[in-house]
Amino acid sequence: MSEWTWPTPGISYGGDYNPEQWPRHVWDEDVALMREAGVNLVSVGIFSWAMLEPREGEFDFGWLDEVLDLLHANGIAVDLGTPTAAPPAWFYATYPDSRVVTRDGVVIGPGSRGMVSPSSAAYRRAATRIAGELAQRYAEHAAVVMWHVHNEYGAPVSDDYSPQSVAAFRDWLRERYGSLDALNAAWGTAFWGQVYGEWEHVGAPAATASTANPAQQLDFARFTDHQMRACFIAERDAIRAHARQPITTNFMAHQSYNTDLWRWAREVDIVSDDHYLWSPDPEAHIGLALSADLTRSVARGKPWVLMEHSTSAVNWQGHNIAKRPGEMRRNALTHLGRGADGILFFQWRASRSGAEKFHSAMLPHAGTGSRVFREVVELGSTLGSLAEVAGSRVRPQVAVLYDWESLWAQELEWRPSDRLGFRERMRTYYERLWRDGVTVDFAHPEDDLSGYRLVVAPASYLVTDAAAKNLTGYVAEGGTLLVSCFAAVVDEYDAVHPGGFGTPLRTVLGVATEEFLPIRGAAEVELAGERLPTEVWAEHLVLDGAETRGVYRGGPADGMAAITRHTHGSGTGWYVSTALSVEALAPVVAAVYADAGIVPPGRPEGVEVITRHGETHDYLVAVNHRDQDVRLDLAGTELISGAEVDGLRLAAGATAVVRAGGDRAGGPA
Ligand code: GLA
Repeated sequence: MSEWTWPTPGISYGGDYNPEQWPRHVWDEDVALMREAGVNLVSVGIFSWAMLEPREGEFDFGWLDEVLDLLHANGIAVDLGTPTAAPPAWFYATYPDSRVVTRDGVVIGPGSRGMVSPSSAAYRRAATRIAGELAQRYAEHAAVVMWHVHNEYGAPVSDDYSPQSVAAFRDWLRERYGSLDALNAAWGTAFWGQVYGEWEHVGAPAATASTANPAQQLDFARFTDHQMRACFIAERDAIRAHARQPITTNFMAHQSYNTDLWRWAREVDIVSDDHYLWSPDPEAHIGLALSADLTRSVARGKPWVLMEHSTSAVNWQGHNIAKRPGEMRRNALTHLGRGADGILFFQWRASRSGAEKFHSAMLPHAGTGSRVFREVVELGSTLGSLAEVAGSRVRPQVAVLYDWESLWAQELEWRPSDRLGFRERMRTYYERLWRDGVTVDFAHPEDDLSGYRLVVAPASYLVTDAAAKNLTGYVAEGGTLLVSCFAAVVDEYDAVHPGGFGTPLRTVLGVATEEFLPIRGAAEVELAGERLPTEVWAEHLVLDGAETRGVYRGGPADGMAAITRHTHGSGTGWYVSTALSVEALAPVVAAVYADAGIVPPGRPEGVEVITRHGETHDYLVAVNHRDQDVRLDLAGTELISGAEVDGLRLAAGATAVVRAGGDRAGGPA
């Protein structure tokens, strides 16, 4: 790790800046307006490869010199991009074999953006060369405070079935398994007669007549993640050979599928994330909170940068909803409350041409007289008043288990029900906790969990023996564990655990599953006299010490145990064998909170209050998503207005940041 400090004083504020799309005179207007908006950090050069290296090996840095000098002269720092997410036309023409081949054999052409094959040696060479050239030239430039490698690894394309990818996959498998016998055993190739006798016959899981071998598909997902990370590491090291500034690449947290961010986060100096609201979701701010908590968690609690979000609508969803007045500010402050020390947007000035001209920007087509620009200026001033919050930490008492390998495995074909999804369960459990005002970290199932009162596993289909041991030990030592249905079904090779479904957690939960019983229609669970509606999923549980708390009424598991509780060592393990809704989960988690000694703060519905703990003070970030004013029992100095408050009236849609009165005044859970 290089020696570095946070890229800007206080909270970083700005966005992607693409001056190469504009004539020179516009740049002067840009920097003047950036100053007006309080912008102190912009990401430059992310898609500029064709302008920086117009022909292979011929570089033109003159225009970038001018941009960086201009920004620096105006007090705006630069997060300098490597442009490797959009190779120039010459690259595709010279190295046509570097193009990605899809699962169906379609060769991906140029003329858009997106990575070429992450296994292409020619790409690796070209990418590290441009990254190294940039680092050499700008390592000492006073404007450059951070490096931004590539853009959103894994989007829009990652899986590659080209010959070079297949060869690299084979090498990766040799390294992983050592022998073909080990590979055949791990992949269970005796099934459907897929046994391999020669390494040369092993390939990527390209289009097949029926479903491809699931263990092979799971390994291919791991391999793809590994290859992209190797591309990142190669560029990062090419930069580090010359430069000392922190290095990042922008993640996509819960929206990312192909990157195991636990592994990625270990490789960057600063974690950064992109988040966009999902238009069809009327409560997309809950997904935003999830994404922010996940980002902070992969950053292991350290401050992170929100590298991109939007000031208003995006243009790549089907029906793109503009943000309502104040919504951008609520979004930004929610990210900040959940640990972001940088609030950036895609992008500074809306593009006139190209694929994203209908995407909102800090400076919209309508110009400085627009609502959006006014709100951008206002947000800049707000963030300016929150400088002292920078560096403070969020410290939840609850962890939610999140494992990309389990996501990859669960989403393969031919599961018992395609209506039971990883992301859906994750969101449902998260939303329950969010509505209860309980802030959470995410954790990997093999992490040290001893610092948490409660661990929740909404979607743990794949559980390794090491994870099971970890969870069992956590409960034995006094922890409370809440596990949702379809858990601990397979090992890391997508093979059913010996002894049946749920076996690895049998000791800690006192229960295992004999058979999955997906529900046609609906059923109910009776819990402490209450009837909770449920659908999609039920299980035939076999109790091994656990007590029954909820019983199925109706449906295929009528009369059987649905929810169980088990004491193991000094802790408790709960199992919820059906896919309860956010509302139906309420009484279940209430009982679990009681076991864990967690007292939800009882905030008004639709209001979130998140605590950031500083060295001397706690900061309470309050966001009112409702259309009504609310009163909150917060006391201290409201930093945006400077007012002393003792009981805070938070207007409809408003935000506040309160430095709690006195040292370390208590905040919500
Ligand atoms: C992604 C990309 C950006 C831009 C935005 C638009 O996050 O990184 O370049 O395309 O989406 O929402």
